[in-house]
Amino acid sequence: MNSIPNSEINYSSDYSNNNWSLISENNTKLMVPSNAIKETEPLKYPVFFNPAAKLNRDISIQVYKAFIENRKEKETIFIDAMAGSGIRGLRVAKEIPKINKIVFNDFNPFSTYISKINALLNNVYNKCDFYNKEICNFLSTSFNFEKRGTIVDIDPFGTPAPYLDCILRSVENGGLISVTATDTAVLCGVYPKVCYRKYYGNSLRTKYTEEIGTRLLISSIALIASRMDLSIHPIFSHSYRNYIRVYCKIVKSNYFANKLQEKLGYVIHCFNCGNRYSIKNLYGIMNCNNCHNKVTIGGPMWTSNISDKAIICTIINSINKYNSKYSEFINSYIKIKDFFTIALNEKDEYPYHFINDELGKILKKNVSSLSHIDTLLKKSGYFFSKTIFSPNGFKTNASLMNIKKLLN
Ligand SMILES: C[S@@+](CC[C@H](N)C(=O)[O-])C[C@H]1O[C@@H](n2cnc3c(N)ncnc32)[C@H](O)[C@@H]1O
Ligand SMILES: [Zn+2]
Repeated sequence: MNSIPNSEINYSSDYSNNNWSLISENNTKLMVPSNAIKETEPLKYPVFFNPAAKLNRDISIQVYKAFIENRKEKETIFIDAMAGSGIRGLRVAKEIPKINKIVFNDFNPFSTYISKINALLNNVYNKCDFYNKEICNFLSTSFNFEKRGTIVDIDPFGTPAPYLDCILRSVENGGLISVTATDTAVLCGVYPKVCYRKYYGNSLRTKYTEEIGTRLLISSIALIASRMDLSIHPIFSHSYRNYIRVYCKIVKSNYFANKLQEKLGYVIHCFNCGNRYSIKNLYGIMNCNNCHNKVTIGGPMWTSNISDKAIICTIINSINKYNSKYSEFINSYIKIKDFFTIALNEKDEYPYHFINDELGKILKKNVSSLSHIDTLLKKSGYFFSKTIFSPNGFKTNASLMNIKKLLN
């Protein structure tokens, strides 16, 4: 089928009542409301589109492509469960030929209509299916034991918490889920009670709060998955501006689900001296192990690795090949290659980081550059790694007290 059924043409009157612009993102063409590209805040109606999320989508494409690289199965299904204009699914259709079925859903009928138009514009309509349902209804009725998604994406306004059960039931064994949260105020400690009831852990309103929020989102997915005898394996996670995004492989396994407790832990923060460290359980936790003041406990949260280095290597190798092939996209490729290179070297088994200007304040001294801190730490036998959570952040196995001694 390469045209839209007559029964749906009634949406075309709404279509002509709005101003539309034809844009392109990488090589995907897209009709979007003209206002969506003029306004600074993305508009929800008539159809949501956020041009500023291009980096987020560029990253998704790389992660999805690396994830399915060695997949042998013939049918590979991508589910864009909250599709908006359809941009993410359409880019998958154009940029990852190995994915041969793309399923779009959105409860806004106009989104479904525009996704169809956009699929036609890109000559990929034949490999697309379209639904116009509430997401939980869509995921539970369209995907069952016989047919599930290889990769399922949810990209809600605000919290993904109400949809996590449904996405976990719609993905195949060994498949991937990608989840966005834009309720960063909740995950980053502004509304601790809301965070506890939605993500089952205490947030920490610190300088490294985006990392804590990301780890809380992952642990909430892991806890829900474990009820269904599913285990999660985070393959990449990041946070940028007002969103947090996580990618987790889902495996049906009692054995791995039973290991959940080993993957979770707590981050202890002392708001008196700035000290921080992680622990696996709360037995015997009393006061700060530096200044002995009362501490604040963040978690339980995912305190193990949050990225799969083999997948990140595959991504970097594939970007290296692209550089020479598609020179018109070179700038965006260089940007994400730098980003993935930091992720590759990041010691992500440490669930917190330090920020150089924060240390300047604690020490009441000028801020030291990251390269200076890197040299000092390594000279004393500690490790230093950058972090994707902050351009001024770093991870180390040195305690705050040791860092202070080195910088003084
Ligand atoms: C943030 S936008 C999605 C953006 C899109 N994924 C992109 O990359 O541009 C969220 C979309 O989810 C849809 N939506 C929100 N709640 C929903 C629900 N409960 N069921 C189905 N769709 C929903 C909205 O209509 C909106 O189009
Ligand atoms: Zn302290």
